[in-house]
Amino acid sequence: METATAPRRVEHQQTDKGYVPVYTTAVVEQPWESYTADDHATWSTLYQRQRELLVGRASKEFLQAQDEMGMNAHMIPRFDQLNEVLGAATGWTLVGVEGLLPELDFFDHLANRRFPVTWWIRRPDQIDYIAEPDMFHDLFGHVPLLMNPVFADYMAAYGRGGVKAHAIGPEALQHLTRLYWYTVEFGLINTPEGLRIYGAGIVSSKGESLYSLESAAPNRIGFDLERIMRTRYRIDTFQKTYFVIDSYEQLMEATAPDFTPIYAALETQEHLPAGDVQEGDRVFQKGTGEGWAEGGDV
Ligand code: PHE
Ligand code: FE
Repeated sequence: METATAPRRVEHQQTDKGYVPVYTTAVVEQPWESYTADDHATWSTLYQRQRELLVGRASKEFLQAQDEMGMNAHMIPRFDQLNEVLGAATGWTLVGVEGLLPELDFFDHLANRRFPVTWWIRRPDQIDYIAEPDMFHDLFGHVPLLMNPVFADYMAAYGRGGVKAHAIGPEALQHLTRLYWYTVEFGLINTPEGLRIYGAGIVSSKGESLYSLESAAPNRIGFDLERIMRTRYRIDTFQKTYFVIDSYEQLMEATAPDFTPIYAALETQEHLPAGDVQEGDRVFQKGTGEGWAEGGDV
């Protein structure tokens, strides 16, 4: 049996900030034949584990879409096969990439209904945690909801909004990025059966799938666009606050207005710490704050 892992990963370059990754922005063909038995096994392990955990925890649209797309635990999916189903459903196309993209490239892809998916998968010793997005996060976590027409439109609108915010300036971009973080990456949705997960950062993590729904520590607060845009977040720990939407339609409608005046108004407003509960918040749960790290909000 083959045990070596496929060649992969970004190059690193030494700069005055230490070694930083040099990302290739180019779209790459998924080198499907080069995945090793270990790579497929990593996918299998993660897929099985998360699917088991997510029944009754993830949004049903998310789980149904994975099945509809033909994702399964047997092997790493082929992007071109997923694209046939996805293209027919909502017009989105997956494109292979080496890793994180510069913001403007990323927005341009989304605005054109292309979702960049990291082509390589984490190593076996990174099963529980990897700092940067890999194929499991991108494909398992982000892609299924692109099958949902409303969410698919939201993601494309976000891309157009990103191009616009980038032109306005870094503060606008910071406010918009928080919206992505608290919805696309770490969003919860309220359903008649209870809160469910739809954020890709949660569904691709075993620990956070449990923590986001079941722990008493974090806040769970109703979606509010400007509130979210003001709120710092965590990149190195579980979130201190999760925001809850009532429906994908709500997300679409709340983000439809032109953000330009909102960005301008927010310039004079203070940024909020990740763990704060504010007057006016629709509180599903006020967290106990147990185990929260001091400082470190970005
Ligand atoms: N309406 C936003 C704007 O004018 C664009 C956007 C839509 C951003 C959906 C995010 C999500 O900038
Ligand atoms: Fe992501």
